[in-house]
Amino acid sequence: MEIKYFESYEKMSEQAAEIVANEIKAKPTKNFVLGLPTGSTPLGMYANLIEKNKSGLLDFSKVTTFNLDEYYPIKHDNSQSYYKFMFDNLFGSININHENINIPDGEAVDAGSECESYEEKIKKSGGIDLMVIGIGPNGHIGFNEPDNFLLPDTHIAVLTEETKEANKRFFDSVEQVPDKALTMGMGSILKAKKILMLVSGKSKTEIFKKFLQGEISTSNPSSFLHLHNDVTVLSDVGI
Ligand code: F6R
Repeated sequence: MEIKYFESYEKMSEQAAEIVANEIKAKPTKNFVLGLPTGSTPLGMYANLIEKNKSGLLDFSKVTTFNLDEYYPIKHDNSQSYYKFMFDNLFGSININHENINIPDGEAVDAGSECESYEEKIKKSGGIDLMVIGIGPNGHIGFNEPDNFLLPDTHIAVLTEETKEANKRFFDSVEQVPDKALTMGMGSILKAKKILMLVSGKSKTEIFKKFLQGEISTSNPSSFLHLHNDVTVLSDVGI
């Protein structure tokens, strides 16, 4: 595992975009499969990727994306959907073929079969080449929350009160935060060939310390990354 510390969020974001761009460029003729998160942390990286695309330094026309998660149920045009977030912050501003964008469907009638077909689509794409993730203050990855057990594949997750509280800042009230989400499982994430984790902000200090101790426990889903052999962590959290 490679861990790199940055003095500023801006520098960390530039480096994250550089890593993503270099991986995409290293596979120019084939379809590159990129896993993506939402949240505050990747915004700087997305801004840098848009910049690179606009200036002709990076081509997204052969990139396929799979988002980590989505609230359920939620309409695509809901201001808080991850669907809208991704179009507002990345997809709407780059030359990606929209047919190559995959986000768990918050509008699906049957959430269970949506999860199954999402997992199947990842497999059919040839697997994720690079999975970018953030980390929650409680160690969650996607909506894989600390629990007695974790699920391997894409599944329906019931949001904990802690996560609803953390996410209510984006909604008018905590009651409006959806109860569930569709999320890749830890197995879907760990099957990616490479993983890039971004850790930003003071609220991540404690969990990042715990992560660095290296103990693996379902009470800290991020700890499972220690089982993967190609993880890069970029952090602006000084500890
Ligand atoms: C986002 C996601 C979440 C976030 C995590 C950190 O798709 O699945 O696990 O990565 O909650 O969020 P921020 O970056 O807002 O601190």
